[in-house]
Amino acid sequence: MEDIQTIKKQFGIIGNTPALNHAIEIACQVAKVDITVLIQGESGVGKEFFPNIIHKLSPRKQHPYIAVNCGAIPEGTIDSELFGHEKGSFTGATESRKGYFETADGGTIFLDEVAELPLTTQVRLLRVLETGEFIKVGSSKVQKTNVRVVAATNDNMHQSIQKGKFRMDLYYRLNTVPIFIPPLRERKDDIPLLFRRFAMGCSEAYNMPQIELTPEASIMLKNYRWDGNVRQLKNVTEQISIIEKDRLITPEILRKYLPDSNNSMLPVLMSESSSKEDTISMTERDILYKILFDMKAEVNELHATLNQIIKSQNMSDSTVKPLTDAMDNIHPQSEYIYDRIIEQDDKVEQAPYRIETVDNKPTITHKLEAKSAEIDEEPMTLEENEKILIKRALSRHKNKRKAADELGISERTLYRKIKEYDLENER
Ligand SMILES: Nc1ncnc2c1ncn2[C@@H]1O[C@H](COP(=O)(O)OP(=O)(O)OP(=O)(O)O)[C@@H](O)[C@H]1O
Ligand SMILES: [Mg+2]
Repeated sequence: MEDIQTIKKQFGIIGNTPALNHAIEIACQVAKVDITVLIQGESGVGKEFFPNIIHKLSPRKQHPYIAVNCGAIPEGTIDSELFGHEKGSFTGATESRKGYFETADGGTIFLDEVAELPLTTQVRLLRVLETGEFIKVGSSKVQKTNVRVVAATNDNMHQSIQKGKFRMDLYYRLNTVPIFIPPLRERKDDIPLLFRRFAMGCSEAYNMPQIELTPEASIMLKNYRWDGNVRQLKNVTEQISIIEKDRLITPEILRKYLPDSNNSMLPVLMSESSSKEDTISMTERDILYKILFDMKAEVNELHATLNQIIKSQNMSDSTVKPLTDAMDNIHPQSEYIYDRIIEQDDKVEQAPYRIETVDNKPTITHKLEAKSAEIDEEPMTLEENEKILIKRALSRHKNKRKAADELGISERTLYRKIKEYDLENER
């Protein structure tokens, strides 16, 4: 077994905390065996070292190593990049082309930002992982390859799976051996070592004296939150080295380079990673708002139409009741959305509609226009609203991907909902 310190030297890895050493140790162990590895950790923690270590210590080291940033390749071309294509298989495919899985035969492919892969590509990837088989885009010929996959992600994969963005079967297939790189704030003892190394690198590169920290500044550096992890520490060290005239860095100087540094001195219980897990993200909230506001417009329209029908058909109470009863039927997922919005933002309270509990179910009630006064305040369930929104988006776009984009949900979730609400038959 390779000595961990030697590996660190070989790959330029700085740090000596048990968590980092443990991650390197696992990488060395799995390198020899042909299994899939998933490297997880926040952005900037140093994930990119690991597929390299695994490849270079493996029997595949003489064969190609290809690193693919899945997040940087447009969705329309990723299948062709990974698996190749036949001539004429799409506009612009003037020649047939080998994909990475063919080129890397015998070697290793590093799939960085694997959570960004579109669902259709995930299906192809699962197949090649399980059987070694793949088919070029536009071909019907099954080809074989022998590639070891190492993947990395800074996403919360469980959330991606829950949201229908990542296949659970593929996650378990990729995650045969997980390697977790902890955030920098959880390996504080590495911070001064990294700082010194980056400061030294700068002083050598620009031929200037190396910066040093006062003991107080050193404590401040160690206690900072480092949301951007080692990447951020490297940038900050380089900025200070170049910009500051003084070579002895005090807390006053350091503070200028650490955004929100006063808060970061709070105990690490405030750590971003734990609060991020529990807090609805800005984008998620934006999407929810968009859905809710669209819902409001849709519901107003629906109520007006319903009111007109009731009036024009002279409907009896017994005919109207099933319609209103249906609206009271709420779906657990809608409850989840409701709970998150209520918890997270009291703006909802000020919105021009209300979310109330009717028969123990969260229900949106709308202040209706005068034209629909007869059914004023009639509650509608979130499920019903969601169904209407989905139907509208589908009829507007005639294309499920675009409809899913408009709704701010994944295509997979849209398919599930179409099935759940039986919308295929209603369209
Ligand atoms: N332990 C370390 N020692 C030396 N340099 C490091 C260490 N960890 C990270 N770095 C440096 O920090 C920067 C960010 O690391 P890397 O690109 O591996 O991050 P990442 O985990 O892949 O992030 P992302 O998820 O954003 O791609 C790189 O310049 C890398 O060399
Ligand atoms: Mg990376």
